[in-house]
Amino acid sequence: MPDEKNAFTRAGEIAQLISAQNKRFIFRLVEGAKFETHRGYINHNDLIGLPWGSRVASHMGSPFVLLQPSLADILIETRRNTQIMYPKDIGFILLTMDIGPGKVVLEAGSGSGAFTTALAFSVGSGGKVISYESRSEFQHLAHKNLDRLGLADRVEFKLRDITEGFDESNVDAVFLDLPNPQDFVGQAKGALKPGGFLGSILPTTNQVSTFLVALRRSNFAFIEVCEILLRYYKPVADRLRPTDRMVAHTGYLVFSRSVLAEAAILEKPGQDGGEAEQTSQDFQPA
Ligand SMILES: C[S@@+](CC[C@H](N)C(=O)[O-])C[C@H]1O[C@@H](n2cnc3c(N)ncnc32)[C@H](O)[C@@H]1O
Repeated sequence: MPDEKNAFTRAGEIAQLISAQNKRFIFRLVEGAKFETHRGYINHNDLIGLPWGSRVASHMGSPFVLLQPSLADILIETRRNTQIMYPKDIGFILLTMDIGPGKVVLEAGSGSGAFTTALAFSVGSGGKVISYESRSEFQHLAHKNLDRLGLADRVEFKLRDITEGFDESNVDAVFLDLPNPQDFVGQAKGALKPGGFLGSILPTTNQVSTFLVALRRSNFAFIEVCEILLRYYKPVADRLRPTDRMVAHTGYLVFSRSVLAEAAILEKPGQDGGEAEQTSQDFQPA
């Protein structure tokens, strides 16, 4: 049976209001608080207890739809002072690196905490995220963003330049979102459990090439490089066509697994002159 309680807003929950102009606002419902825009204000008390999906109006009569934001909505609205990772990349990374409930994941750098948010959400209350960042102003914002969502207690924020190393061992996955991941492959290996995942996102192909060389040197195997292209369509039934603009490039994704030296030799491609063509996304014939 569906839980009736989930159908109505409650104090403490994260809510989203979407205006007729598609402006989106995400905030926590707090008794006695006020949501304010230049289109007027709405008292939170008037929103608490309404069914999700309701139409509401500001004191000036401007209409809004009241929704529970998805994780993608939250990530896109992340307050930022760095480049952030986007849902199209994050979704695929989480699946590929097997990041789910109970997992222990290490990342660097925290940046504005967009990816940290997705990691904390995915590992659940039984998992843990360790997030390194060298700049205190970025760490502060990332912490604030996670705190606002009630996810900060799943994250251990560490203010450190990772050239000084990681403290952890036996983690399930390491993700590096910084310009020079090739410099940290050895220490990522030391932090990972055998078989663990190492991933990175890089904006240019020359950075990927440098990273690939370092991965092979440190016995990472099952290396894959890909990019995610996402094209939206105008949802008009009788004139269905792509939207005029798209985000053409965010970054290249690189994934690999930490294996022992004898296993890495087995897997190494190119021994017979050709590179391994098969990827983890290929369907096996029935
Ligand atoms: C692109 S941002 C990360 C964005 C983040 N993944 C997000 O989704 O919000 C890269 C971050 O790495 C940090 N960084 C770069 N080199 C670092 C290092 N050696 N140690 C720790 N943090 C570093 C930068 O300060 C910056 O905040």
